[in-house]
Amino acid sequence: MLISIIVAVARNNVIGAGGKLPWKIPGEQKRFRELSLGKTVFMGRRTFEEIGKPLPGRFTVVISRTKNFEFSNCTTMPSLQGALERFRDEEEIIIAGGARLYREALPLANRIYLTCIHRDFPGDVFFPEWDREAFNLTYVQKVEGAIPYTYYTFVRKCRK
Ligand SMILES: NC(=O)c1ccc[n+]([C@@H]2O[C@H](COP(=O)([O-])OP(=O)(O)OC[C@H]3O[C@@H](n4cnc5c(N)ncnc54)[C@H](OP(=O)(O)O)[C@@H]3O)[C@@H](O)[C@H]2O)c1
Repeated sequence: MLISIIVAVARNNVIGAGGKLPWKIPGEQKRFRELSLGKTVFMGRRTFEEIGKPLPGRFTVVISRTKNFEFSNCTTMPSLQGALERFRDEEEIIIAGGARLYREALPLANRIYLTCIHRDFPGDVFFPEWDREAFNLTYVQKVEGAIPYTYYTFVRKCRK
C-alpha cells in the first residue's frame, strides 16, 4: 500500500484560513481530482465538514473521534492507524489533510504531491515541517496565471 499526501501550500506555508482554503485559483484543484479519482481518500473531520459531502468517484474516510459520517461512499474511523489497517489492501491511500492529519501521516508517507502557490496568503493553518532530505523530487510542472503555482511530486528514498 502506498500512502500519498496531497496538499497545496502557499509560499508562507499557509494551507487554511478560518476553516477554509485561503484561495480560489482556477484549475488549481485539477491535480487533486486526477490523482484521487477511484481511490480511497482520508481526511480530517474539519476538512470533511468544509467540503460538506463525500467526494464523488472516491471513497472518503473521515478521521474523527467525535463524529460519525456514514454514507454509501464514506465512513468514519477514530484513528489514522486504525484506518490504514482497515484499508491496507488498497493500492494507494490519498491523505487530503488538514494539518493535524498531515502531521501524523508525514512520517509514513511514500509520496507527497505538493502544489506550491507562488504567493503569501493570510491564514491560521500551516503545513507541518517535513524531512525534505528523505524524499527525491521526481516531477515539476509550473502553471502560469494571475497566481502562478507549481506541481511537485516527492517520492521517499528507500528507508535505511
Ligand atoms: N491547502 C490544502 O491542500 C488543504 C487540504 C486540506 C485542508 N486544508 C485546510 O486545513 C484546515 C483544516 O485543517 P485542521 O488541521 O484544522 O483540521 P483537520 O485535520 O481537517 O481536522 C481535524 C480533526 O480531524 C480529526 N483528526 C485529524 N487527525 C486525526 C488523527 N490523527 N487522529 C484522530 N483524529 C484526527 C479530529 O477530529 P475530532 O475532533 O472529531 O476527533 C480533529 O479535530 C482548513 O482550513 C482546510 O481548508 C487545506
